[in-house]
Amino acid sequence: MARLLVTGGAGFIGSHFIRWQQKNHPEDELLCLDKLTYAGSLEALEEPRAKGLTFVRGDICDRTLVLGLLEEFRPQYVVNFAAESHVDRSIAEPGVFVRTNVEGVQVLLDGCRAAGVERFHQVSTDEVYGQLPLDRYDLRFAEEDPIRPSSPYSAAKAAGDLLVLAASRTYGQPVTISRGSNTYGSWQHPEKLIPRMILLALEDRPLPVYGQGINVRDWLYVEDHCAAIDAILRRGRSGQVYNVGASCEKTNLEVVGAILKALNKADSLITFVADRPGHDLRYALDWSKMGKELGWAPAMDFNRGLEETVRWYLSHRSWATWQAER
Ligand SMILES: NC(=O)c1ccc[n+]([C@@H]2O[C@H](COP(=O)([O-])OP(=O)(O)OC[C@H]3O[C@@H](n4cnc5c(N)ncnc54)[C@H](O)[C@@H]3O)[C@@H](O)[C@H]2O)c1
Repeated sequence: MARLLVTGGAGFIGSHFIRWQQKNHPEDELLCLDKLTYAGSLEALEEPRAKGLTFVRGDICDRTLVLGLLEEFRPQYVVNFAAESHVDRSIAEPGVFVRTNVEGVQVLLDGCRAAGVERFHQVSTDEVYGQLPLDRYDLRFAEEDPIRPSSPYSAAKAAGDLLVLAASRTYGQPVTISRGSNTYGSWQHPEKLIPRMILLALEDRPLPVYGQGINVRDWLYVEDHCAAIDAILRRGRSGQVYNVGASCEKTNLEVVGAILKALNKADSLITFVADRPGHDLRYALDWSKMGKELGWAPAMDFNRGLEETVRWYLSHRSWATWQAER
């Protein structure tokens, strides 16, 4: 039996990770620490709490709280999902991203070291590598490639990664990092592309697509992402970075088109709007290390995953609308 502290577990991927743990490691004890920002939702944790998850509302930047929780709960594993995660918000208000995504990570690292935590896992993103060109489909980022983040969001995530790697090098602290690609599925905040477009299409409102819609993202189903994080946490080598991709590259326009098709709505709802400043053209990961070392591979087919996601939003429309308006 292990004890896991999951930070940011009331958000999209974190809440799936908690459900995934309860299903696949029912013997383990789980504690979730989450600040419940606009992005967090206790509703996403209703079922896990009924199954024994302990929830504490609080900030990962609160050193006294973090040290106290680690001292009391004595987890073997800490997995950090807590972050400000929306690129557009980071352009408008970068300061809060530095606080949570950089300072918060340092507080967790210090606390884990003091409490002798066996493994701290930092959930990071493919966005830390920066962009790839659109005319070189042979290129993909590997773990040892330099990081060249473009937005305040990805720059803050990259700083967090560097602090984690520094803790490994300087103190020999047991840590790992996963860099996942664009993740989709149920319980995602409707500020993000897929849920946002689903909600707008349901109301027959215009679907705003940045620029010409040619930017390419690699789409990873949330449960595949959770399985990868679990494999790294329990079996990954300390001090290592692992790319978690899906080799499922799509332009934003293709994704929006697939949503409209799934909802039986007309393409004429698409409207092109001024591009996001600094908008990365393409992300793509070489995730062969995950396959070779940990035997992981993504299992979900994009069309099926998208259909399931669309169906979920249809049956959770009031939650999504409420989240969008908070
Ligand atoms: N969503 C993606 O496509 C994606 C892809 C790759 C990596 N990631 C990374 O995965 C992690 C989770 O992403 P997500 O999409 O689930 O994010 P999210 O925005 O849905 O959830 C973030 C959670 O963190 C909590 N939180 C924010 N600041 C906090 C603080 N200071 N203290 C405690 N809790 C705090 C929020 O309340 C929320 O519950 C992030 O680190 C993100 O960078 C996300």
